[in-house]
Amino acid sequence: MPKATHSPEASEADSLLKLVTSGGAIEFDREREGAWIEVIRKMDEVYSDLLRYEVDLEHKNAELEEAQAFVTNVIESVSDILIVCDARGMVQQVNSAFQHALGRSVGDVVGRNIADVIDAADGAKLVPLLKPRGTPDVVDGELRFATDGGSTDLFAINSSPRHDHRGRFIGVVLTGRPIGELRRAYEALHKAHQELQRAQRQLVEQEKMASLGRLVAGVAHELNNPISFVYGNIHTLIRYRAAIVAYLDAIHGKGRASDLAALKKSLRIDEVMEDFGPLIEGTMEGAVRISEIVKNLRRLSFSKLGEVERVNIERLINTAVLWAVRTKQVRIDLQMELEPELWISGNEGQLHQVIVNLVENAIDAMRDTELPRLVVSAARKGNEILFRISDNGPGIDKDHISHIFEPFFTTKRVGEGTGLGLWISYGIVREHGGELLAANEPDGGATFSFALPAA
Ligand SMILES: Nc1ncnc2c1ncn2[C@@H]1O[C@H](COP(=O)(O)OP(=O)(O)OP(=O)(O)O)[C@@H](O)[C@H]1O
Ligand SMILES: [Mg+2]
Repeated sequence: MPKATHSPEASEADSLLKLVTSGGAIEFDREREGAWIEVIRKMDEVYSDLLRYEVDLEHKNAELEEAQAFVTNVIESVSDILIVCDARGMVQQVNSAFQHALGRSVGDVVGRNIADVIDAADGAKLVPLLKPRGTPDVVDGELRFATDGGSTDLFAINSSPRHDHRGRFIGVVLTGRPIGELRRAYEALHKAHQELQRAQRQLVEQEKMASLGRLVAGVAHELNNPISFVYGNIHTLIRYRAAIVAYLDAIHGKGRASDLAALKKSLRIDEVMEDFGPLIEGTMEGAVRISEIVKNLRRLSFSKLGEVERVNIERLINTAVLWAVRTKQVRIDLQMELEPELWISGNEGQLHQVIVNLVENAIDAMRDTELPRLVVSAARKGNEILFRISDNGPGIDKDHISHIFEPFFTTKRVGEGTGLGLWISYGIVREHGGELLAANEPDGGATFSFALPAA
């Protein structure tokens, strides 16, 4: 049972009751009506507030639905697969690209641990992807996913962390795209590239052998001349020796003086004695020339590729140009402008090959030129030595100029050029710290130039 109280409200109600019993019903009704009106007014206010709130809420709800539809639409339109996981690795959402790629439904994966969705063999690769920490926060990896029949191709995966409003780690978003096809294509490309490099090396070797062949032909041509006159001289000397021996025998046989004089005349002993000096000198010169050529040949030995030595430019250019010109067997106006005492450090055999290539190209280009002229110069400019080889041929076709340094680019007929000369030369010059440049001269002809650090 509730107990009687003496609160202020209770005493107010008591006095109202007293007023009604003593003063009559009219006052009582008026006051009641006023109170009711007040209550109804308040109710109206509350009701209209409620209506307003409801409209607001509906509005907000529509906006929220629209935003959610937008986000869903974006996620679904992403062509990469997308997996959202919580901090423990439980799958919270996947997009349709994922379902499509794996042939699995949302219900099949959402709520399961990601470890059960991937290929069991890739478990170790998953660990770093679920804990992307540090900078940059995105972690890259590769995964295969489990399918009904086994597992998918390899996917490249990026894992980005998710944080709540207080910055706490709450999970990751994994995005991925298949790379199996790409990887196979890359491997095939890599293999083809290696194959090409091997073929190129082989061709370079062949080109080296070819230039060695040209060199040997040039050397043979060079040796032929001195050897033939050494040979001729020796023949004459043999004949002279026979005459002298006969004459000396006659002297020692104590023949008559008149007979000896006649014999001396018939054996032409005086001319023989006179001829001896030039004959021996000539033979000596021939022998020296042969030994010079052999010395040059040894200096240019191709087995020394890669060795670095001090190279005298004057000597290098003289031998290379001369040999190139001799092998081509053409008459040209050759102008050499070589400063003396220029030295660089490099590989003489390789640099020789560059000069020979450039001179041979120039001579080939001037094939139809009426008065072919080749200017080869080497001059010091600051700490560098500038090499220039200019011809007065037709110049390089403007459509070809950007291709001439490419391997196998040639405008020569099959069998006349491999198109490797400039490519090899470019590589050699670059290895020596320079750059081989080609340009056409304003008044016709082409110039090839490069600068190398002076030693
Ligand atoms: N001095 C030059 N004047 C005009 N064109 C040139 C000159 N030098 C080179 N070229 C052009 O550059 C091309 C490539 O030269 P490169 O030396 O690489 O090969 P190639 O001479 O054709 O063949 P290889 O050197 O193997 O015998 C030549 O075919 C030619 O068209
Ligand atoms: Mg060439």
